[in-house]
Amino acid sequence: MKNFEIYIEDRFEDRSLEFFIDSKQLKIFLNQGTSFGSSHDTTTLTIEAIKYVYEKIGPVADCLDLGSGSGILSIFLSKLNYLNIYVCENDHHAIEESLLNFRSNLNNYFPKFIKKPFHKNDFYNLIVCNISGGFIPNNINNFSLSLKKDGLLIVSGFNSEKKLQIIDICMKNNLKFVKSFENQPWISIIFQKS
Ligand SMILES: C[S@@+](CC[C@H](N)C(=O)[O-])C[C@H]1O[C@@H](n2cnc3c(N)ncnc32)[C@H](O)[C@@H]1O
Repeated sequence: MKNFEIYIEDRFEDRSLEFFIDSKQLKIFLNQGTSFGSSHDTTTLTIEAIKYVYEKIGPVADCLDLGSGSGILSIFLSKLNYLNIYVCENDHHAIEESLLNFRSNLNNYFPKFIKKPFHKNDFYNLIVCNISGGFIPNNINNFSLSLKKDGLLIVSGFNSEKKLQIIDICMKNNLKFVKSFENQPWISIIFQKS
């Protein structure tokens, strides 16, 4: 689970983002900060994938945002009425910024921080993970074991050239390819547990 990459995205000012989904407008306010997660392509492509699964099946419960950074993906899921969102982040600074952004965006319900994202098998209906380097390929087995049958995995944070390698590892771990979203050189991919 160790990852020594540094994730920083300078936001010198507060930022307001707008998304459109199902003809609804969804706004996210991000406080000034340095945690990753606002307008980088890996984030935008993950949000495209979330929009796709939301439009296909609507919100589900028991979700994991692994590597929350600014908290943008958890906020997006919360605003789409996904329930029981668990958050995992190994950088204390990013945890503080996620919490600040949760307070600025969410009223009734806060996603819950956990330290061990894979400690329960057969548990999540949705996992979103935008982490670069070897983390995703090295944890495909963990993703698969912790997903329920038909549960969805959205991964991002790597280049399109790794697409076939990731699909191959996923297929060997009962995760079938659903769809990908690309903006060269970046890609996000949706998989479903069979
Ligand atoms: C590329 S950022 C993604 C942030 C946000 N989810 C997004 O999509 O923009 C990756 C985040 O994952 C965190 N991270 C890296 N390795 C991790 C690990 N093993 N467990 C939990 N968080 C991790 C980093 O600290 C960083 O905040």
